[in-house]
Amino acid sequence: MINVLFVCLGNICRSPMAEAVFRHLVEKENLSNHIRVDSAATSAWHIGDPPHQGTITKLKEYNMSTKGIIGRQLQKEDFEKFDYIIGMDESNVNNIREMLGQPDHLKVMRFLDLTEHRKDVPDPYYTGDFQETYDLVLEGCQALLDKMEAEHEELSR
Ligand code: 4NP
Repeated sequence: MINVLFVCLGNICRSPMAEAVFRHLVEKENLSNHIRVDSAATSAWHIGDPPHQGTITKLKEYNMSTKGIIGRQLQKEDFEKFDYIIGMDESNVNNIREMLGQPDHLKVMRFLDLTEHRKDVPDPYYTGDFQETYDLVLEGCQALLDKMEAEHEELSR
């Protein structure tokens, strides 16, 4: 099993959106037996909370579900449990590295560095623009799946 963890500040807007979109792509490609997806926050602000209503509504528009996604905080053990630990913006990546005590491991990366955009995912908690975030999240998730298929032979059979 290959384990993917998306991480943002609150775990209610961007990382649960990425979790739901990536899970959808994984199911579409019949890879659920190979890839497990989760998300977490760097903060403790929304532990136990469902995703933001804006994230739920946007995903529903694309027939994607946030079922079972509940806010949790990143734990030190997550470093061992996950193969890809993906921060939605640069400050998330810096916080992940500090919280996990991993200043330079390559499994920690910034989401949109996997795309040609190479920038932070805008936080719709502040921008209010869930469409802009969704479009970038979809692009990033497709890029991540491509990267994983290139790195793991068992995914591209
Ligand atoms: P997220 O957005 O990191 O994409 O989940 C935020 C959610 C909540 C807060 C900030 C950002 N907050 O301040 O509670």
